[in-house]
Amino acid sequence: MSRSAHPAGPRHADVLPEGHYSGPAADLNALDPKVWAQTVTRDADADGVVTVGGIDVKTLAERHGTPAYVLDEADFRERARAWRTAFGQDADVFYAGKAFLSRAVVRWLHEEGLNLDVCSGGELATALSAGMPADRIAFHGNNKSVSEITRAVEAGVGRIVLDSFQEIVRVAHIAQSLGKRQPVQIRITVGVEAHTHEFIATAHEDQKFGIPLAGGQAAEAVRRALQLDGLELIGIHSHIGSQIFDMSGFEVAAHRVVGLLKDIRDEHGVELPEIDLGGGLGIAYTSDDDPREPHEIAKALTEIVTRECDSARLRTPRISVEPGRAIVGPTAFTLYEVGTIKPLDGLRTYVSVDGGMSDNIRTALYDAEYSVALVSRRSDAEPMLTRVVGKHCESGDIVVKDAFLPGDLAPGDLIAVPATGAYCRSMASNYNHVLRPPVVAVKDGESRVIVRRETEEDLLRLDVG
Ligand code: LLP
Repeated sequence: MSRSAHPAGPRHADVLPEGHYSGPAADLNALDPKVWAQTVTRDADADGVVTVGGIDVKTLAERHGTPAYVLDEADFRERARAWRTAFGQDADVFYAGKAFLSRAVVRWLHEEGLNLDVCSGGELATALSAGMPADRIAFHGNNKSVSEITRAVEAGVGRIVLDSFQEIVRVAHIAQSLGKRQPVQIRITVGVEAHTHEFIATAHEDQKFGIPLAGGQAAEAVRRALQLDGLELIGIHSHIGSQIFDMSGFEVAAHRVVGLLKDIRDEHGVELPEIDLGGGLGIAYTSDDDPREPHEIAKALTEIVTRECDSARLRTPRISVEPGRAIVGPTAFTLYEVGTIKPLDGLRTYVSVDGGMSDNIRTALYDAEYSVALVSRRSDAEPMLTRVVGKHCESGDIVVKDAFLPGDLAPGDLIAVPATGAYCRSMASNYNHVLRPPVVAVKDGESRVIVRRETEEDLLRLDVG
């Protein structure tokens, strides 16, 4: 990514690091709709405070404190609906709960006609307790416990995605002992190198997920699953990774999955009715990112699968996808209060906020890039190069690595980091016994806490002495 010049000339311009940040924006008061939730706007009059869902951030901070994840419910529903509509009635959209899950979210998904992908007993419990019908739940994971599998089978989940040879036998045994035949898919790795961070790529062979297509292992898994009475093999699953923009990885994956379906038909005389292409579609964290729209993705994936099936003379199976980040990611921002500001001569200015790596580990873990803006007022001060950091006892506790903020930024100002709806609250920790922030849903001028702020009593309750 290249650096763009700023007419006013940023402070410390002589030491700007090369690459890996975007900015400064031409106007630091502007809010790029690509990275901010849909209803976010800056008040044109007054002091330029930012509002979301019809409420200004100062009111939200007074009501709910900071830091807080602020989630635009209308935006969430609209994105969920856009995926549902794009794929139509002949496909299924499973929202990946790992991105962010709460009971309110489960209800919204249910109302919008989406299904749900869970990958632990905790996610399953959340889904069921909020009324998601079990047959609309898919259960994932590379090491599901016997008790998790038992609960899933008992509840009647729509599918369990098998991830190893042991699990094929385990699920079959549990289902049979409960007198059931469990619908399952087999997750395979198709050998695609997805263009994303190593830790979130999942279809190359040297990693823990799935059963490799290479060397005939996937075909052997199918053979075994078809023989077991407790299992009803309904399809093949592939998830190639996360935060992906390039559709070519999906193309290769679809080609290889359909190749396996064809081999299964030739060997067993069975045409499996479903194919799941996983999630992984990228979102904009900065203005440099250009994500695809759900209808483009649906069109591309449907065309690829149909074309591959036609040439293999297979009936086109029902397609399912599992977007997580692409639905919830852009719908939320993290609202922080600035605590200290430390200019380091000739380097940059460190801006410390009242959260950090405990509410957003992605910068430290994946070198993720984020945007940031002053939201409690507008400012026409000169931009200054900052690093937004948290309050944790660790120098890697960085929220936004390189960001331009107005030079008159002061303690007490509110700043917000957009696109934190996915993998931030769900990966939050209590490092340094910092309390995890609430998730506040906003809509039509009202705010509602959907996950409350952790308290010191919560911490002490777990510490049984
Ligand atoms: N389906 C399966 C089987 C998955 O493993 C995942 C994500 C998804 C769907 C949803 O992927 P999405 O559409 O949200 O990219 N913590 C990392 C992301 C890990 C994703 C794990 N699996 C991050 O913060 O970037």
